[in-house]
Amino acid sequence: MAAVVTASQKVLKPHLLIKGGHALSGELKVSGAKNSALVLMTAALLTEGVVELANVPELTDIQGMAEILGSLGVSVKRRHQAIRLQADNLNHAEPPYELVNGLRASFFCIGPLLGRLGHAKVPLPGGCRIGARPVVEHIKGLKALGAVVNVEHGVVTASVPGSSRRLKGAPIMLDCPSVGATETVLMAAVLAEGVSTIENAAQEPEVQDLAKMLNAMGARISGAGGPVITIEGVERLNGCSYAVMPDRIEAGTFLLAAAITRSSLRVAPIIPEHLNAVLQKLRDCGCKLEIENQGITIIPGELHGVDITTQPFPGFPTDLQAPFMALLATAKGTSVITEKIYENRMQHVAELQRMGASIRLQGNTAVVEGVPQLSAAPVTGSDLRAAAAMVLASLAARGTSQVAGLNHLDRGYAEIEGKLNSAGTQIHRCNPELA
Ligand code: UD1
Repeated sequence: MAAVVTASQKVLKPHLLIKGGHALSGELKVSGAKNSALVLMTAALLTEGVVELANVPELTDIQGMAEILGSLGVSVKRRHQAIRLQADNLNHAEPPYELVNGLRASFFCIGPLLGRLGHAKVPLPGGCRIGARPVVEHIKGLKALGAVVNVEHGVVTASVPGSSRRLKGAPIMLDCPSVGATETVLMAAVLAEGVSTIENAAQEPEVQDLAKMLNAMGARISGAGGPVITIEGVERLNGCSYAVMPDRIEAGTFLLAAAITRSSLRVAPIIPEHLNAVLQKLRDCGCKLEIENQGITIIPGELHGVDITTQPFPGFPTDLQAPFMALLATAKGTSVITEKIYENRMQHVAELQRMGASIRLQGNTAVVEGVPQLSAAPVTGSDLRAAAAMVLASLAARGTSQVAGLNHLDRGYAEIEGKLNSAGTQIHRCNPELA
């Protein structure tokens, strides 16, 4: 029998129906890190050898990157969480705009293409809802390594002059510790002639994961994870097998799901040092944490407000600012949350207010007065982490919420409703377009 589609369903976008008030229990499994996997995939461009990645999350962004690499002539074979990449037939250095558009991480191709082929032409990734997100530092770093770079008609064209087509090692000082710029320069410098240093480098765990894999491919990188990275260029790299590290942002989101529903839950695998700033804030607001065997059990007590300011790693990550705000909207007392990384990452405030949260926004600072109970509403996540915040708020709200913005959510959370439902939530995915 055909499903009955109501008039209101016809105009609805795909959404989650989330019945609030259910406690979580047991264990939630964390997938491989999206931001790591994306850059590790592009690092396969640096070698003719086979790169086998394990623990790759099943996400739309990963599929997008696979298509971009395929368009460059890379053989990409995917089986669940394993991807086999081989760039032995790299025949193209220009990923098409249609594929690049919408996947900011696609710009990562420029460093390895330049290092391997001596030229690349990559459309600018453009801004996004959370901020302008320039690539000035990436370009500055590539120029320091000897590339000639032009930006015209929205496309970055880079080439290495001279017959050797090989970049030259150089000292590079970043104006800000950009994760993307550090990764781009790192991937360009591994095949350069001579030594490069990156000062004021991003210290995020994803940079460390990249350096670890590049070293497994034969690169000579030291200092990744600290503010100065040294890269001794080598002539060629080999293939390798490498397992992507666990996703610290997904792990943090799951700990917050437990906290907001006042449930005890184990989340694993986690590398606790990747989340120190977040774990400290969870303790500060009244959660007990038991850390053992690459997992964390969270036991929430009576929760009260804390102040948070986002910072580059090892500070509090901007990607957990919105999810943590959802929690603090339900914690007793006042919290002051300041966003310092992106100029426009407070769009979740209005949606949380629609669910009964009491939040005053002054520029990029949100003053949150905890309320005893949120109430369900139709809400939309305007970016990936805002969507996660809407899911969390809905888990704690009275009634059934309708969370849209799944195109964002599915970029960064593999099987989110399957995972959460296995721990006790009631989330149902609706796709009115398929009804
Ligand atoms: C990465 C993550 C993203 C996370 C962010 C900060 C990926 C795919 N994405 O993004 O989830 O939110 O790190 O932890 O890994 N900036 C400049 N000039 C530049 C480059 C950056 O001013 O040339 C500024 C940006 O505007 C932003 C800040 O630096 O304000 C951080 O950006 P960056 O570290 O580059 O973030 P991404 O690598 O884009």
